[in-house]
Amino acid sequence: MLKIKVPATSANLGPGFDSLGVALSRYLTLTVLDASDDWQIDHPFGTDVPTDGDNYIIKVAKQLAPNLTPHQLHISSDIPFARGLGSSSAAILAGLALANELADLGLNDDQILLKATELEGHPDNVAPALFGGAVAAYYDGSQVAHAPITIPDSLRVLTYIPPYAVKTADARAALPQEMDFKQAVKASAISNVLVASFNSNKLDQALTLVGQDQFHEAARAHLVPELGQIRQIAHDLGFQGTYLSGAGPTVATMLPEGGVAQLESGLAPLKLPGELVALTIDQWGLTVTTD
Ligand code: HSE
Repeated sequence: MLKIKVPATSANLGPGFDSLGVALSRYLTLTVLDASDDWQIDHPFGTDVPTDGDNYIIKVAKQLAPNLTPHQLHISSDIPFARGLGSSSAAILAGLALANELADLGLNDDQILLKATELEGHPDNVAPALFGGAVAAYYDGSQVAHAPITIPDSLRVLTYIPPYAVKTADARAALPQEMDFKQAVKASAISNVLVASFNSNKLDQALTLVGQDQFHEAARAHLVPELGQIRQIAHDLGFQGTYLSGAGPTVATMLPEGGVAQLESGLAPLKLPGELVALTIDQWGLTVTTD
């Protein structure tokens, strides 16, 4: 039985707009069962998600392999939809990996990353979902340059997942068309030093910079009022690494394992309506197994 497992991701990693991301410990799992006359997909996502060849994962797969033999599939996922945790990137990669395996296309990771980035528009979710860990990636419109960022297993990402969705298109529409030159220099300096800090294990410095985005969070803050509330409480407790996960609305705080319970207690009085979930770093990325 073929099984494709893809992790959740948190894009931007604070100041790395459209170019940094990290894989987290929630997963979409696709199990391939028998071949059949038509695609038959068993999933728990409700009637809005197609159970036949119109399912997005099959549509993606057929872009790579139009004559793919239909199969029975089972799909499960604990990555929430439209919450800034990479659910659509996980679906894209699952579809591409499905085509690669069933049609025996022999695509390597770079080829899969390029196709996934073309579909997603930017690589900051799909690159860490494919490779695991944290990744820096840049898409110039024809190819994707990428490199891993060293990120230790000891870190946790405490996520606040609101009960409401924010569409990436709406969150991108909130962004400014232009940016002041000096602010752009500062914003990219923060992002550059963040990556170097992780890679040289200067973790305190890295976590401080995670919370210092200058590219997108201010323009999106009105869409996610909890961002400011959580950041303030985290700062009061000495945790600097609060950021908007992807386009939101999930608010992430990257912190040492030992700080999770303290921040959870600090946030309790807010009585936030969503879920608080402590996630670990997934260091594996997409996996394909057979048994
Ligand atoms: N970098 C993207 C954004 C991630 O912030 O809009 C969401 O797809």
